[in-house]
Amino acid sequence: MATVTPPPPSPASQPPSSREQPYVLGTGSDEAFRLGLQHRLWSNSAFDLWIRAGLQPGMRALDLGCGPGHASLDIAQIVGAQGRVVGVDESAAFLKQLGQESEARKLHNIDRVLGDAQKLDHCLPSPATDDYFDVAYTRWVFCFVASPDEVVKGIRRVLRPGGKLLVQDYFNYEFGITLAPRRECFSKAIKAVGQSWRSRGGNPDIMGELPRLLKRHGFEIEHMDVKQRIARPNTSMWHWPWTFFNSFLPKLVESGFLSQADCDGALKEMAEVVNDDGAFMLLPPVFELIAVKS
Ligand SMILES: C[S@@+](CC[C@H](N)C(=O)[O-])C[C@H]1O[C@@H](n2cnc3c(N)ncnc32)[C@H](O)[C@@H]1O
Repeated sequence: MATVTPPPPSPASQPPSSREQPYVLGTGSDEAFRLGLQHRLWSNSAFDLWIRAGLQPGMRALDLGCGPGHASLDIAQIVGAQGRVVGVDESAAFLKQLGQESEARKLHNIDRVLGDAQKLDHCLPSPATDDYFDVAYTRWVFCFVASPDEVVKGIRRVLRPGGKLLVQDYFNYEFGITLAPRRECFSKAIKAVGQSWRSRGGNPDIMGELPRLLKRHGFEIEHMDVKQRIARPNTSMWHWPWTFFNSFLPKLVESGFLSQADCDGALKEMAEVVNDDGAFMLLPPVFELIAVKS
């Protein structure tokens, strides 16, 4: 692999978000905690995808929309001291957390870059960074951006020819999540989640469009699959939807997407299910793909 200068770390003094419509789930400590739990519960499928794509020591990897960097930290261990990880996110708070954690773990091969995934040329601007990465990974980010086209263009610029883009994201989100047996307020709450993401330009169906979009930008799709799980009450997986709905539904009330009564009703329905051994929740299907830059 060619030796090139890595992109510079971001200045710590930037504002919390560089975009007009910041991340809909917020960047507070509740979301930071939720992202950590979510990573733990989904890390097996992330590792499987990285290994399938051939991620290995010495490689240069981009973690786009890295959040607090749970995946970046794992990737940094895989690529090792000879490799490099660049975590890009629009949240300075999340990047700060990644900095603290990489320091604590003595991982010195991670750069943090503050920027908008839709304007990668603004935050990874040096010509030296073109063709820089062997692998670009992005999980649960495409569903939140208004211009996936711009994200793909930006990734294509910084991937080397033959480099791989690895995506894990949603399709059929609003119909995929269901409480079994079905409950009325919970169903309304799911609808409101989808509406709020879409109102900011996001798309919880993005994985239905991404393969074609990638082909238009000169990528070959090497692999696609989907992982759908269920959560039974009182299991570790139950905490994934539990933390999500408990932190996000009140925000939907504040932003006017859900009535207080439906929010209370949905949380009550989830709480009632905890005492029902036969109940479960069908979780949103997480699609994955590997695309190769031709
Ligand atoms: C659901 S979190 C996923 C974080 C991380 N990829 C993971 O899997 O743990 C979405 C992340 O995307 C970031 N994000 C959303 N839109 C972005 C954009 N336009 N540019 C950069 N980051 C963005 C958010 O700040 C947040 O950290």
